[in-house]
Amino acid sequence: MIITFASSKGGVGKSTTCAAIASALALNGERVLLIDLDQNRTLDRWAKKAPIEGLTVSAIDPQKFGSFFREKEASGHYDHICIDLPGNREVTLFKALARSDLVVIPAQASEPDLREALVVVSDIRDVAETTGRPIPYRLLLTKIYPLRTRVTDFAYAELARLGLPLFRTALVERSAYREMFLNGHPPVLTEPGKGAGQEIIDLLAEIRAIVADTKSELRKAG
Ligand SMILES: Nc1ncnc2c1ncn2[C@@H]1O[C@H](COP(=O)(O)OP(=O)(O)O)[C@@H](O)[C@H]1O
Ligand SMILES: [Mg+2]
Repeated sequence: MIITFASSKGGVGKSTTCAAIASALALNGERVLLIDLDQNRTLDRWAKKAPIEGLTVSAIDPQKFGSFFREKEASGHYDHICIDLPGNREVTLFKALARSDLVVIPAQASEPDLREALVVVSDIRDVAETTGRPIPYRLLLTKIYPLRTRVTDFAYAELARLGLPLFRTALVERSAYREMFLNGHPPVLTEPGKGAGQEIIDLLAEIRAIVADTKSELRKAG
């Protein structure tokens, strides 16, 4: 699978979710390449703290993304490629979208975040139309409060009104997600079978199902 984590806003949880999902795949015995396109190199630094077998993290110059991606994909060395994007609308965003099996758009349950998510959605639709291939995407609510609040109710109502597809799993505001960048350990290791660890397992199951469904629909159509 090629999974891209995108949003035109910073601080919404792109890098956190990307690292957590990539770790879960690698700890399941799958070979994962994580491409860090953010010039802050958050994930490159994270990976050096507690390396995980089967997970390769490469921070690359956005200018070299196209050739790097082609080479790695053709190498057959990886089962999955996860792409962490910076929070801007640079050309790498469009290049990554064009290659994705699924785009995860993290957003907090707030009006400005949902507006930003809509910008990414319209970019995805443009790329899908231009390339003539479907690019599935889902919004992922992040850093939500564990209890239902007026804010989360507003977010769910807005998403329904806008017809935006959403992951059933949402990531609650939890220290395990913050700790990950401090000690390097991903949620599936720090909270196995509960809390953040369970959320990531649930999210990954949804991701796999969406990618599998899209592939089988494409086979039927083709
Ligand atoms: N579900 C969560 N619970 C608690 N903290 C979170 C969560 N998701 C992200 N964070 C924290 O929020 C900050 C921004 O997250 P990050 O993944 O770097 O966002 P982005 O890549 O979109 O800029 C980081 O300090 C991260 O630890
Ligand atoms: Mg980031």
